Amino acid sequence: MSVLEKITSRDAIALEDKYGAHNYHPLPVVLNRGEGVFVWDVEGKKYYDFLSAYSAINQGHCHPKIVGALVNQAQKLTLTSRAFHNDVLGKYEKFACEVFGFDKLLPMNTGAEAVETALKICRKWAYEKKGVDENEAQIIVCENNFHGRTTTIISFSNDPVARENFGPFTDGFIKIEYNNLQALEKVLDADSNIAGFLVEPIQGEAGVYVPSEDYLAKAKALCEKYNVLFIADEVQTGIARTGKMLAVDHENVKPDILILGKALSGGVYPVSAVLANDTIMEVIQPGNHGSTFGGNPIAAAVAMAALNVVQDENLAQNALELGELFRVEMNAFIANSSIVNKVRGKGLLNAILINDTEDSSTAWDICLALKENGLLAKPTHGNIIRFAPPLVMNKEQLLDCVAIITKTLATFEK
Ligand SMILES: Cc1ncc(COP(=O)(O)O)c(C=O)c1O
Repeated sequence: MSVLEKITSRDAIALEDKYGAHNYHPLPVVLNRGEGVFVWDVEGKKYYDFLSAYSAINQGHCHPKIVGALVNQAQKLTLTSRAFHNDVLGKYEKFACEVFGFDKLLPMNTGAEAVETALKICRKWAYEKKGVDENEAQIIVCENNFHGRTTTIISFSNDPVARENFGPFTDGFIKIEYNNLQALEKVLDADSNIAGFLVEPIQGEAGVYVPSEDYLAKAKALCEKYNVLFIADEVQTGIARTGKMLAVDHENVKPDILILGKALSGGVYPVSAVLANDTIMEVIQPGNHGSTFGGNPIAAAVAMAALNVVQDENLAQNALELGELFRVEMNAFIANSSIVNKVRGKGLLNAILINDTEDSSTAWDICLALKENGLLAKPTHGNIIRFAPPLVMNKEQLLDCVAIITKTLATFEK
């Protein structure tokens, strides 16, 4: 069988089921084309994409400028490894450092790798700059975090399904309640071995939890007071998703370490990055860390194009305005609804809370019905449905989507 051969949805699902590991539970839809805010299944049915590959497709599917950069670079030079220089990486690093206001960038591929990288930098900084005793460094994380799937990262997850039978786990993490400044200060005050505080500016996977208005700014101030690095994981919230280039920009917070992934490439190629200033990044020296693919010329060319699209097309402003409109429209529906309790979010990262128990199948059933009505979304945890469309959406399309969502939800009213 060749990849060009036509296949039905049923056969594609059967193949994955038989030959693929069962580490996901996808909606039963098989896509083979995407353009802007739309995707099409193999039978030709068109859908609004209201997930954007978990916020990786902020620039819309197959953006011609990003795909163009990929094709151009792929025909010239794809991979050198970091054993040699290539003529794109430096240009990309300079551009990204200027966009985000940092001295240095360390290129990686996936979000989890970038988180791992940030944790390693943070620990090394603690030993070499802060003077923490060897192997004593602690990093504060939040309950209900999601930072990826590596062994170290799941060591500080509290999702039982993500952890079950994957131990033994990595030490050196202290978990506190999210959005709780007292809890943060208590740990900072009690332990002089704290190296960093790792936080999602909005907890995406946990169900789009938006913290109180000045939480990030106050947490950053506490980190400064105790000489602890503030590490922002903006893998999901970054690159205009929440209505600003970074979610921390809403509170004018400058992280000590910034983690980016997903939409850094517009979903065209796996590209992630860690950014920091010299005083922190200089702890990393040749041989300390690396990746064969990290910083490859395709990734560099694609990421530059993807960031250019975000700026040229004013995607942050569009996300801000459409997000506002989305929540106004959803709140109008919720006022007379018994099936939805709440809508919450920032920019175009939103979620609705379904009025049913966490272990009910209602959210999943609603997503199946949305699919039938031409819109793709997925529950995050149990009864929460995340809505994160591409940021290239226009107002008319957004209102069309609101109509599909409310019409579908209405059929589930009790
Ligand atoms: C906040 C956050 N960090 C890290 C990751 C992991 O990224 P990846 O799946 O590319 O490893 C995710 C993925 O959803 C995420 O939302």
